[in-house]
Amino acid sequence: MFFWKKRKDSGIDMNNLPRHIGVIMDGNGRWAKKRGLPRSAGHSAGAESLKKIVTEANNLGIGYITVYAFSTENWKRPKAEVDFLMNLLLDYLRDAERSLAGENVRIRAIGSRNELSEEIREQIAKTEAMTKDRTGIVMNIALNYGSREELVNAAKKLCEKAVAGEVVPDDLTEQDIENELYTAGQPEVDLLIRTSGEQRLSNFMLWQVSYAEMVFVEKAWPDFKPKDLHECIRIFQHRGRRFGGV
Ligand code: FPP
Repeated sequence: MFFWKKRKDSGIDMNNLPRHIGVIMDGNGRWAKKRGLPRSAGHSAGAESLKKIVTEANNLGIGYITVYAFSTENWKRPKAEVDFLMNLLLDYLRDAERSLAGENVRIRAIGSRNELSEEIREQIAKTEAMTKDRTGIVMNIALNYGSREELVNAAKKLCEKAVAGEVVPDDLTEQDIENELYTAGQPEVDLLIRTSGEQRLSNFMLWQVSYAEMVFVEKAWPDFKPKDLHECIRIFQHRGRRFGGV
């Protein structure tokens, strides 16, 4: 009863929800700096924010959410910050088995795993296995993810298939490429949200956002609340999507 009221009051059209939301969680560092805190405090606050947003997206009935947690370029950051982020991710994955259980969230990691520590790779495999039969929202954590890397990887796989005679280059379709992406089988991103005022894609899901509505929010990620998610969805619902038609 409470949920219905909440949804009704939120002004969201429950029949026109984005199937897949992508989120570039930007601004943790600036959030912390403004408060005289270390950047790590911003990332911790960002992780808390993330839990609330995933819970809310699941309550709303969103099918898929992909969050940009660590890009292939983020290794350039100071080692202490990289280590902190990796530990935060480990905690998040461990915690997700318990705390997101009630929420019925399925967790998957997307990105290249080779460069990750064995500890993280094992935890990813464990969390994915433990959450795979859940029926709620699918949460893709983009970790050591880069869209160009993903596309190169897809090209390599298709070349291998061509060499093995399994595909004919001339017959390749968009679907063949999609089938090789980390998000194979998932709907394309309908709504892309980036916080903290920046308006760029930063190598995030270039293929999957081809027709996404983009919403750029001024707030830093740790300040992004469920009501802000509602606002982004309302903005999405007021856009006229034509997919190249008229
Ligand atoms: C961008 O802010 C944020 C990141 C590079 C990391 C995102 C990570 C989290 C939100 C928390 C951890 C995630 C999980 C899944 C546990 P920035 O550091 O670039 O901020 P700035 O642009 O203000 O410096």
